[in-house]
Amino acid sequence: MWVYLLLLMAPLVSAQTFSCGPCPDVTVQKTFDLQRYLGRWFEITKLPASFERGKCIEANYALRPDGTIQVLNKQMEEPGKLTPIEGTAVVKNQSEPAKLGVGFSYLSPVGTYWVLYTDYTSVAVVYSCTDIMRVFKVEFAWILARNRTLSMETRARAEAELQRAGVKLCQLIPTDQTGCDLNTLR
Ligand SMILES: *[C@@H]1O[C@H](CO)[C@@H](O)[C@H](O)[C@H]1NC(C)=O
Ligand SMILES: *[C@@H]1O[C@H](CO)[C@@H](O)[C@H](O)[C@H]1NC(C)=O
Repeated sequence: MWVYLLLLMAPLVSAQTFSCGPCPDVTVQKTFDLQRYLGRWFEITKLPASFERGKCIEANYALRPDGTIQVLNKQMEEPGKLTPIEGTAVVKNQSEPAKLGVGFSYLSPVGTYWVLYTDYTSVAVVYSCTDIMRVFKVEFAWILARNRTLSMETRARAEAELQRAGVKLCQLIPTDQTGCDLNTLR
């Protein structure tokens, strides 16, 4: 049966961070203010994800009138062209506001989006883990920043948060945030 499951997942496995064992018990940011978290974030580094092969990756979070969060991600897959993809995030339990669920066509049905740490103005550390029958897990992790670059000091702080969640720093892939200004490319 596991062989069958692995075959099913093979296309996914190749480009995601897939490992054995259940998801770790990770603590998220204790007080989380969604309003301050909204807005534009640039991706600094991440665990490999097949849906994020481009550069200049950014996320924009905005509150919709119905209380859900519009997630608008953009990446540059060819020079000068930003490809958007839209998803929806929700706070499932108001007592745990830093634990969001996010839905895109590629994370079905709804993936986790846990904010491990943010200071709202410079950096955010996001972790996502999905259990597959508590035997395997698929993990995503991102360090996001309000600027396209992050100071060494802030980055080290963010990386420590990921390590705390069991993420191996050597698996992180930095996102190329150079040559992203569409005005200077034209
Ligand atoms: C919401 O989170 C609180 C605190 O972790 C927990 O005690 C409660 O059971 C959760 N409620 C639901 C509906 O999951
Ligand atoms: C972002 O970069 C600008 C210009 O390099 C700098 O002035 C500003 O302090 C930076 N902001 C943060 C939050 O690091």
